[in-house]
Amino acid sequence: MKHLISTRDFTTDTAIAILDTAIDMVDVRSRDVKKLPTLRGKTVANVFFEDSTRTRLSFEAAALALSADVTTFTTQGSSVSKGESLKDTLQTLEAMGADFIVLRHSHSGVATTVANNNWVDAHIINAGDGTHEHPTQALLDAFTIRSRLRGDDARGKDLAGISVVIVGDILHSRVARSNALLLKTLGATVTLAAPRTLLPREIEGWDATVVSTLDEAIETKPDVVMTLRVQKERMTSGFFPSESEFSALWGMNHSRLSRLPSTSIVMHPGPMNRGLEISGSVADSPQSTVTEQVANGVALRMAVLYTLMGDSR
Ligand code: NCD
Repeated sequence: MKHLISTRDFTTDTAIAILDTAIDMVDVRSRDVKKLPTLRGKTVANVFFEDSTRTRLSFEAAALALSADVTTFTTQGSSVSKGESLKDTLQTLEAMGADFIVLRHSHSGVATTVANNNWVDAHIINAGDGTHEHPTQALLDAFTIRSRLRGDDARGKDLAGISVVIVGDILHSRVARSNALLLKTLGATVTLAAPRTLLPREIEGWDATVVSTLDEAIETKPDVVMTLRVQKERMTSGFFPSESEFSALWGMNHSRLSRLPSTSIVMHPGPMNRGLEISGSVADSPQSTVTEQVANGVALRMAVLYTLMGDSR
């Protein structure tokens, strides 16, 4: 695998191999010397055309932990304001020595276009393209689910028998799409819970059960409830009547959490709208994996860089 564009690119075995490598990376990060020399002399360019806290810092930490040099490009203050094209921007970064380009962009499909047109020789990693995909988020989520629910001997295991409910703004969520695809590949069952206005039109192709209330999904006692940020910046019109109505019907709150088994977990990719899709008490509860997801993200991205590097050697 040269690039990482979509979770569709994975077979069950390749996905499990990356999750297993991430276990080794967690190990590296717990050592006294938290670094591997794998990417010494290589450069990872973080190219972010859209805002990010977690993903950008996480890739940066992962690249540094593998001894790479890191350059970061954000649109603010760049020549993009002078109309420079994406192709020219990427070729400029490669001319400065980028071996990996971690790309986030507001347009769906951009990472595919860049990889398919061979504009650059660098490995392309999709760090979120519009409402399309965010494969490393799905991998770190799968890693988190596996380590929480399979325990210490997670290595080599898939997610067969694990039930996951994805709830909320599925329409605008690249996290939901990448997760639904990867979770199926790993053998989990996926249920989608959202108001009709926040479900994508091609939902039939997702191979997931759709329910019309979150309470109905909670009744099935799922192992995982994955909440999503309501993406106000991508909403052009009223997708739901009011925020209080949304949180009453679709928010993960204390009462819903209390109806789940104590072993079930609640996830959120961040950034959270506390009080909207997830209540503060749920976000801070022991069943929440929010900060664990962030911590796992670094190890997982180390595993992705390591794997792509290995395939070019
Ligand atoms: C997500 C993203 O940017 O796609 N966040 C993240 O990467 N941790 C989800 C979101 O913005 O809601």
